[in-house]
Amino acid sequence: MIQERPKIISLPKFLDARGNLSYIEQESHIPFTIRRTYWLYDVPGGESRGGHAYRENDEFIVALSGSFDVELDDGIEKEVYTLNRSYYGLYVPRGFWRKMINFSTNSLAMVLSSTNYTADDYIRDYEEYLKLKKDGKI
Ligand code: TYD
Repeated sequence: MIQERPKIISLPKFLDARGNLSYIEQESHIPFTIRRTYWLYDVPGGESRGGHAYRENDEFIVALSGSFDVELDDGIEKEVYTLNRSYYGLYVPRGFWRKMINFSTNSLAMVLSSTNYTADDYIRDYEEYLKLKKDGKI
């Protein structure tokens, strides 16, 4: 299975003395059609979320406020991306074990997703994830 790579994507920004503006258009700034948006808020400082992989869902994650790290593991290597500005985000293709860690107090994480929510899309057991990777099923 060919694994797409994660990447930081810069977004348009309009700097203005009245405050800045950025935006995202599906299929032009991010490489998928947006089916769902969710956000993580009131996360206690230092807390972690995630700790799972998706079979089909692709994501684009933006720190609208504050900061946090996204740790991506493909079963062999781990990479950590720090998100702390609202004019770029991290594209996370399906198939990575992903954790969101080190949330700052009052951070706001916006996640754009390529699929509707379904619990069946989640792999929540790391050993199962490694086996699926090894067998080329994810
Ligand atoms: P979960 O994905 O486990 O959170 P995280 O990985 O960030 O720690 O989601 C927490 C709960 O919210 C879980 O019961 C499923 C539910 N949920 C939805 O109903 N719809 C959604 O779009 C998402 C992301 C979660």
